[in-house]
Amino acid sequence: MVINETLVAFTFNLINISVVSRLTLISSGEVQRSVWVEDAKHWQLMVRLPKDICDSYNICGAYGSWSTVKTQRCLCLDEPKFVPRNSKGWEDADWSGGCMRRTSLDCENGPKGMRSSMP
Ligand SMILES: *[C@@H]1O[C@H](CO)[C@@H](O)[C@H](O)[C@H]1NC(C)=O
Repeated sequence: MVINETLVAFTFNLINISVVSRLTLISSGEVQRSVWVEDAKHWQLMVRLPKDICDSYNICGAYGSWSTVKTQRCLCLDEPKFVPRNSKGWEDADWSGGCMRRTSLDCENGPKGMRSSMP
């Protein structure tokens, strides 16, 4: 993968060079990987990205992560130390605000960096 001011490029090598494969970036931003099926004379779609909402960049904001297995929604990392920055938006599936520390760090006081009010 190369991304710089003048070029965005992606290359891949096939294990079996007799396979004809293509990667297509369509106008919606979706990437599709297909292989040529000679007998049927058509492109067979193998992979389509983004696969789901989880592949969207920064969907959960800072200190958030997508939970596919458990809940199909964003969760804050290390609950209950982190809480949604915008709790109303968070409930309405707008996770863009991400999460923040419930208790802010106070690195000047105490070896653990936590304020003494932390439970
Ligand atoms: C971008 O990357 C390509 C491939 O590595 C290189 O040839 C080219 O000089 C680069 N351009 C810039 C502006 O860095």
